[in-house]
Amino acid sequence: MNTTHAIETARILTEALPYIHRFAGKRIVIKYGGNAMTDPHLQQVFAGDVALMKAVGMKPVVVHGGGPQIGALLEKLGKESKFVDGLRVTDAETMDAVQMVLAGGVNKQIVDLINRHGGRAVGLSGKDGGLVRARKTHHEKDGEALDLGFVGDVAAIDPKLIEVLDGDDFIPVIAPMGVGTDGATYNINADLVAGALAATLKAEKLMLLTNVRGVLDKAGNILTGLSSAQVDALIADGTISGGMLPKIHCALQAVRDGVGSSIIIDGRVEHAVLLELFTDAGVGTLIRR
Ligand SMILES: Nc1ncnc2c1ncn2[C@@H]1O[C@H](COP(=O)(O)OP(=O)(O)OP(=O)(O)O)[C@@H](O)[C@H]1O
Ligand SMILES: [Mg+2]
Repeated sequence: MNTTHAIETARILTEALPYIHRFAGKRIVIKYGGNAMTDPHLQQVFAGDVALMKAVGMKPVVVHGGGPQIGALLEKLGKESKFVDGLRVTDAETMDAVQMVLAGGVNKQIVDLINRHGGRAVGLSGKDGGLVRARKTHHEKDGEALDLGFVGDVAAIDPKLIEVLDGDDFIPVIAPMGVGTDGATYNINADLVAGALAATLKAEKLMLLTNVRGVLDKAGNILTGLSSAQVDALIADGTISGGMLPKIHCALQAVRDGVGSSIIIDGRVEHAVLLELFTDAGVGTLIRR
């Protein structure tokens, strides 16, 4: 490193100082999107960012998706993926695959990456320590009830295990599933788990990383500072659909439940997490209390 470069590095670190102070000791829940986490280089950068957050005193909690990875396994098994309003229709066989991919594959891969960057990540599913209690989703489409199988909503969160882990050196990494009172395992959209967890933990921030720049209008412009009424209108006219539906709902609900702010950001951008936390250059769809 030459001197000019070294001075530049020192300057950048100093600029980050107010942000480091601001977020020190604060919980930040990050939803790591299945679509944004397929690029190997971005995976490395993301893992490094999370390890750095912890190293400077924040309490990051990662909840991950795995849509593309689940889709890939189902395709290998010769099973078709079906979606209704962004939710995967989940029969018993699909649920087995979902659990295998999320808790077995994707979860351990993220843990491994964070650990290789000097973090101490612990992989969990919503089942561990009774973290996520699930309730079967009752979904309606055009006024009619639709059975989505083992698709669940979050009925309750018991944050004890997270408090134990992130109060120490550990970084919890959570696969989104839960157990119902019927004993069955439910597949829960990761956005919903991240939102409910952020609310229960009274997180400072809920960050939803995805594979788009944020919530876009019909012309492709980024929308920010959305109110609940504006979101309803955007859903009604079809601007917001599919996987963005659970995301925007939980972003709004989290701030209503006391989370400082929710932000939907582009996980395809290198260092998206640090840009949002440590600079004023963060972009995406911000939702404030
Ligand atoms: N108004 C909108 N603005 C932006 N994206 C939208 C909008 N309406 C629908 N979408 C869709 O939502 C998608 C993001 O949700 P999706 O569930 O596919 O990804 P993810 O939640 O990041 O990953 P995963 O579900 O695997 O965890 C976008 O890729 C886009 O196709
Ligand atoms: Mg999604």
